[in-house]
Amino acid sequence: VLIDKGEHRHFMAKEIHEQPTVIGHTVAAYVDAARQRVVSPAEALDFNSIDRLTLVACGTAYYACHVAKYWFEAIARLPVEIDIASEFRYREPPLSERDAAIFVSQSGETADTLAALRYAAGKVKSVLAVVNVAESSIARAADIVLPIRAGAEIGVASTKAFTCQLVTLATTAILAGRQRGAIDAAEEARLCDLLAEAPRRIAEALTLEDGVAALAQEIARARDVLYLGRGAMYPLALEGALKLKELSYIHAEGYASGEMKHGPIALIDDAVPVVVLAPTDPVFEKTVSNMQEVMARGGKVALITDANGAALAGADAWRVVVLPRIDRFIAPIVYAAPAQLLAYHAALAKGTDVDQPRNLAKSVTVE
Ligand code: G6P
Repeated sequence: VLIDKGEHRHFMAKEIHEQPTVIGHTVAAYVDAARQRVVSPAEALDFNSIDRLTLVACGTAYYACHVAKYWFEAIARLPVEIDIASEFRYREPPLSERDAAIFVSQSGETADTLAALRYAAGKVKSVLAVVNVAESSIARAADIVLPIRAGAEIGVASTKAFTCQLVTLATTAILAGRQRGAIDAAEEARLCDLLAEAPRRIAEALTLEDGVAALAQEIARARDVLYLGRGAMYPLALEGALKLKELSYIHAEGYASGEMKHGPIALIDDAVPVVVLAPTDPVFEKTVSNMQEVMARGGKVALITDANGAALAGADAWRVVVLPRIDRFIAPIVYAAPAQLLAYHAALAKGTDVDQPRNLAKSVTVE
């Protein structure tokens, strides 16, 4: 199959803008829209027969696992551990028949993730692989394969694979919630409807590209950038910072909003932009007070929120990006879009190689 950039300057731009379509494919693969119910190969595992779920991956796929931890715990009331594959595999973590493990990989070939999967196989009840490349080593070595259906991803920095991983993991959390009796049919229907809404919402978020590009021009002048988030927005802050580092070579770090005061706040001055990812959710007020701590020290806050959040807390911010108001369940999927666009446009401003950042590889098959 010939894959080209179409009307886009870079594969990354094409892949960012494909998200409404490919997320739609992922939702269609795992949600029975008529019955408002998840249908998934993961049904082969009885989530009621396990006490713990371990999620393992590298890079951006690891941050998808980190978001999923919030979902599995809230929706399925299932204890979750997450780890990066290179640590998990050498730690020799104790595992039993009362565990299941999910390995997430776009390529399905990452050496550390494959080795981590082989370590878990045979020890746990069931090994699941969430992969984009369905004919991959990681898929072949798993008991259950959950394809994310993002289509070929060429840009080294992962974008559409991340959001499709999120959708796949979200549906798995819903399934686990149903099996464990943690959610009823009405709640499953509500969550399925929200996922069905995600393609439209991410398309709306992508229409804000010009505003995000203007912010990126300013961010591109910084030497250091902080990203803050709370709850499931915390891993999004980590992913946003990773994207900026990978693409623009600007030093960026993500922190949990509440952890700022325990160290990173020492970095704050008017040269350090702080990107705050904060939909109006039950922890919004807490994040606003962390924002105020930053601003009181001369920090420049770029607040990415919804209209409600902008009205409540936008007045003192340096820049505000206003996204559609969405349920907190799908916020990590939708807020990925501005984080990706910010890194992309910062890279354009810096003139870096967007699709092939220095020193990085799309698939890391060495340890
Ligand atoms: C490389 C890529 C990252 C990716 C990571 C894991 O470092 O540059 O974008 O997130 O590998 O890759 P995987 O194919 O296992 O998801």
